[in-house]
Amino acid sequence: MKILFFLIGLILPVAGLCQQTTMQAIQIQQFGGPEVLELHEIPQPIAGVGELLLRVHAAAINPVDTSVRAGRAGGLSGAGIPYVPGFDVSGVVSAVGPGVTGFNIGDEVFAMLDLRRGGGYAEYAIVKESEAALKPTNTSHEEAASIPLVALTAWQTLFEIADLQAGQTVLIHAGAGGVGSVAVQLAKWKGARVIATASEYNHDFLRGIGVDVTVDYRTQRFEDFAQDVDVVLDPIGGETQVRSLAILKQGGTLVSIVGLTPEGRNPDRSDINVISTLVQPSSSQLAEIAQLIEQGVIRPIVNYRFPLQDAKLAHEQSETRRSRGKIVLQIE
Ligand SMILES: NC(=O)c1ccc[n+]([C@@H]2O[C@H](COP(=O)([O-])OP(=O)(O)OC[C@H]3O[C@@H](n4cnc5c(N)ncnc54)[C@H](OP(=O)(O)O)[C@@H]3O)[C@@H](O)[C@H]2O)c1
Repeated sequence: MKILFFLIGLILPVAGLCQQTTMQAIQIQQFGGPEVLELHEIPQPIAGVGELLLRVHAAAINPVDTSVRAGRAGGLSGAGIPYVPGFDVSGVVSAVGPGVTGFNIGDEVFAMLDLRRGGGYAEYAIVKESEAALKPTNTSHEEAASIPLVALTAWQTLFEIADLQAGQTVLIHAGAGGVGSVAVQLAKWKGARVIATASEYNHDFLRGIGVDVTVDYRTQRFEDFAQDVDVVLDPIGGETQVRSLAILKQGGTLVSIVGLTPEGRNPDRSDINVISTLVQPSSSQLAEIAQLIEQGVIRPIVNYRFPLQDAKLAHEQSETRRSRGKIVLQIE
């Protein structure tokens, strides 16, 4: 059976070339600033073995997209140039490749695409079955697209790596950001006490999603509000990471999603865990996250919407690093 799928996988792209349909997509033809995000008419991809062809209705922006675009993300732009960015999508299955068992044409799904592949800023994208889950029934495609990468990041850091438990205290830096705002909601669902940092203008918002203690990182020192914490989620790095090491309780864990400083790699203390991680797609975790959205535990937060052709403006907004929740591209 595997050999059959392998042969079909070889034949499909060749067959597809004979009846090539095109689509609109944002394609990078050279690394650079937001202006390299141009709308092009390019061939529609073809679903291979274990893959879905998704008619994309919304794609989210993540800071990593801007790093890939600028040529700063090394292996993450693995496919090389030309390249269609975008790791978060929501849409409708328009074709299924051989071997797909869990999805049918017409299903509404959302997905985080593998970081070495991308392809989300387009009318059609290839989604591996192992990356997808049914879209929550109570969300729009825009809200659904805002979820996968940040929610999987929060899930994997808080639950898989740090093993956050009810009654523990977690410090979430950048609590109003894409990752932070979902991490806050997941930590509260778990029963943890949540301290979060943000600019003052975001504090009401943070309290609204359940934060117990808010800290204005611009005017206050988080050390004055957070001591002996069990877990720190670090999307900031640098001095923020170094200072966070001192407020962990014995046995506590700092998980960085932006890499480790020299002090993080070799902490003064031997009684703490310091871990750096990179999010991975997971259809099973995404399905659990979809359930939590349907139950009202996680509320998607979309702050800015841009049409596909304005991806440049969306990246400019992302690069301000001033936001609340997510930025989404609408794809009609
Ligand atoms: N390793 C991984 O797997 C992984 C996965 C996802 C994301 N990341 C990385 O994690 C970082 C955050 O991602 P994101 O999607 O959450 O970004 P984002 O939504 O763009 O984050 C914006 C937020 O950052 C806050 N912020 C900026 N500087 C801050 C500081 N010094 N202290 C506290 N908050 C600060 C801002 O808060 P105010 O507006 O309140 O000032 C804003 O709300 C990015 O660098 C991203 O590339 C890594």
